[in-house]
Amino acid sequence: MKTSDVFTPNLPEMISWGEMELNRNCIENYRKEVLWMVSNLLNLPLSKIICSPSIKISKQKFTIFKNWIHRRINKEPFQKITGHTEFYALDFNVTPGVFIPRPETERLVDEVLNIASSFKQISILDVGTGTGCIGVTLAKMLPKSFVTCIDISRKAIKSAIDNAEFHNLKNIQFKRKNIMLDKLDQPFDILVSNPPYIPKNELKSLMPEVLNHDPHKALTDNENGLVFYRYFAKNISSLVKKQGYMILETGNRKHPYKVLDLFKKNNIQSLLKNDYSNHPRVLIAQNE
Ligand SMILES: C[S@@+](CC[C@H](N)C(=O)[O-])C[C@H]1O[C@@H](n2cnc3c(N)ncnc32)[C@H](O)[C@@H]1O
Repeated sequence: MKTSDVFTPNLPEMISWGEMELNRNCIENYRKEVLWMVSNLLNLPLSKIICSPSIKISKQKFTIFKNWIHRRINKEPFQKITGHTEFYALDFNVTPGVFIPRPETERLVDEVLNIASSFKQISILDVGTGTGCIGVTLAKMLPKSFVTCIDISRKAIKSAIDNAEFHNLKNIQFKRKNIMLDKLDQPFDILVSNPPYIPKNELKSLMPEVLNHDPHKALTDNENGLVFYRYFAKNISSLVKKQGYMILETGNRKHPYKVLDLFKKNNIQSLLKNDYSNHPRVLIAQNE
């Protein structure tokens, strides 16, 4: 089928066309991405799309879909195209200039939930909240907690507030702060963070989807990828209460071990936990 065809396709035809276009342009997860796009386009859950081949596609919807496919071929992330992503099975708005949540960050939420189960009421600080994916999910899953989310970026704070309002949360607050410079009122039971950790000299090797669409101040600390961890380790006593925890995402390969080393050198009880693919990606540290 040519995109210039005047007739509108039925749902399976539209899906096959989208898959074919993305596949021949080397988009790795083309099948999943087309389904997510169609789900957003038609505002229907994936299960309905797969089981409803008779859904009619209007000319207007097909025009939007073709535009989305062309944007994806031009290496725009599908989350930015649709304006949505799923994180911990919750819907999040994704706005330009704000870091797109990644599935691997869900491991941080698992670990916070695990540790939080031993607290009655709990104060949580989410440093570098972005869309609010971590903080909002925790506030939703832990209604007795109070979550404070901070970010240096005005756009991020606006996006996170919108997401908290969308999920109707009251046990959460947002502050525009630079963790390195601005004082926080009190230490927290848990600090959770997915900070910028790409070393400056690795920035240019990132995929265009990341390099051209995620804000650079969300990706890199403009040094060696350890600046935030060094700050967290040095300031653990003012950031988290006695017996409180820090739960931090780390990068790949040697990065998690460098972070662990940094915490150990500061005599902080700490360990690495694996992600779902069995790579160490989460550092847990306790302020003993
Ligand atoms: C990798 S993104 C993580 C966003 C979100 N937590 C997530 O996991 O999807 C890092 C975030 O840290 C924020 N950030 C960068 N420098 C900061 C600083 N000095 N203080 C507070 N936030 C900062 C960025 O604006 C960005 O939103």
